[in-house]
Amino acid sequence: MKKLTIDDLKRDKKLETLILEARDAAYWHAYAPYSGFAVGAAARDKKGNIYRGANLENAAYGVVMCAEVGALTAANVHGAFDQLEAIAVVGFGFHPHVDCSQIVTPCGRCRQIIYEASELSKHIDVFACSGDLKHIEQWSIAEMLPRAFGPKTLGIVSPPSPAKAGMKPFDAKESATASSTS
Ligand code: THU
Repeated sequence: MKKLTIDDLKRDKKLETLILEARDAAYWHAYAPYSGFAVGAAARDKKGNIYRGANLENAAYGVVMCAEVGALTAANVHGAFDQLEAIAVVGFGFHPHVDCSQIVTPCGRCRQIIYEASELSKHIDVFACSGDLKHIEQWSIAEMLPRAFGPKTLGIVSPPSPAKAGMKPFDAKESATASSTS
């Protein structure tokens, strides 16, 4: 783990952009009426594309989705789940009782999902930040989730999608015909 300062961000514009994207996602898009705690995440792929997520709460409390899940899902639907190199997480309270100067690290479930992505791209840096960005820690996911359970444990080498399994894409005309004749 390495501690970073705002000055480090000024020197590394790529990292600054990633962290500001995560903070903006929290500020604009958190749906957190119950906890009053906004979390934003921004994942970057090896080409420099950024995928954002924000926490999404629910009146049925257990259904909450973390910001990291949103960012990783966005990366996945853009074909970049296996290309990720970094993820930044920023959180802060916006109800008066919540402290906003604490570093927010990914929860256990999110670490597991980031770890899965890192097994595909080889390495992911996690930047855990306080809402005021005065405190930033850089971790590798391997360091943050030691002795992880992962694809190697299962020995899984199967293709992850129909496309990667070589299945022929569905033909739009055939589908239209099938639905009109059924
Ligand atoms: N939260 C995240 O979005 N990511 C984490 O890694 C930890 C927790 C959210 C879930 C919930 O909406 C709020 O923070 C308070 O737990």
